Amino acid sequence: MPGPTDPVTTALSPGGLDLDAMRSDVRRGLSQPQKELDPKYFYDERGSDLFEQITRLPEYYPTRAERALLEARMPELIDEIQPASLVELGAGSASKTRVILDAMTESGSAVQYVPVDVSAEFLEKTARRLRDEYPAIRIDPAVGDFSSDFHLPAIERRALFAFLGSTIGNFSEGDAVAILTRIAHQMRADDAFILGVDLRKDHAVIETAYNDSAGVTAEFNLNVLRVLNRDLGADFDLSAFTHRAFYNAGLHRIEMHLVAKTPQTVRIPEVGDFEFLAGESIRTELSHKYDRGTVATLFDEAGFCLEQWLSGEDEAFAIVVGSRRWNRI
Ligand code: AVJ
Repeated sequence: MPGPTDPVTTALSPGGLDLDAMRSDVRRGLSQPQKELDPKYFYDERGSDLFEQITRLPEYYPTRAERALLEARMPELIDEIQPASLVELGAGSASKTRVILDAMTESGSAVQYVPVDVSAEFLEKTARRLRDEYPAIRIDPAVGDFSSDFHLPAIERRALFAFLGSTIGNFSEGDAVAILTRIAHQMRADDAFILGVDLRKDHAVIETAYNDSAGVTAEFNLNVLRVLNRDLGADFDLSAFTHRAFYNAGLHRIEMHLVAKTPQTVRIPEVGDFEFLAGESIRTELSHKYDRGTVATLFDEAGFCLEQWLSGEDEAFAIVVGSRRWNRI
């Protein structure tokens, strides 16, 4: 008997999103006093491409800072851990993955790579490319959403779990702990975990990274409205909204908003009608910035031991190494 999530009974968007789930999610978000949309809706093909462009912008330092750290520190770390498998959550484009897989190949421990992502299509593309580049490594992609329970194929041990790109920053503290806890529960005693986090720094540097002069981040932000128009038949007028990103110093996070230029009503079939005052915004993304203390708290609450804190000389970004903690005192 087909289950509730059987593919034949679930209507999917072109990008593979469950449309009913998306409708109720969007309804909930736009019904809040501070309207909000989940940043996961940025990433259709165009949105993923725009994000790739963001990672190459002169103002957007996190991707470069993280890659430099991985290149500088992975060879030694991989020699220590000797992982047989790399399990990468929210696999993204594989460019950072290569740094880790190269180090695993170099140290002679590499057996398996398990990219975990919500998009099956995207995973297949990545898998095909990496199979060509790393014929000696078994590539076992897993479709899964770390925001809910995810299932993994059989994993070669010892495993290195990786959650990079400061994606954790998109989540509230409670959700971040829930995600890290789910990751911890997939780990065995001698597995290792690396988390990439963007660090607190000069507010102007952070703000500029989300307000690039070429306007790519603005396009990326507005793309979520395109996605809702296409997938849900919404009637957002993209020219009636402007991009705004600012650093909320009290809460240590970038907030990205789309601000309505004029009063307007937006209709989304099977979701509802939503009124905007002039200047009212939809919050589209949070991007939390961390220090060692806040990561230590997250790790502690999620059941991880913080083993190593790797940050570059510029202290722009950190790779945090953890292990699963087995007994709570
Ligand atoms: C992919 C979530 C890490 O928060 O910096 C980049 C996304 N948004 N520019 C971030 C993003 C605007 C990015 N993350």
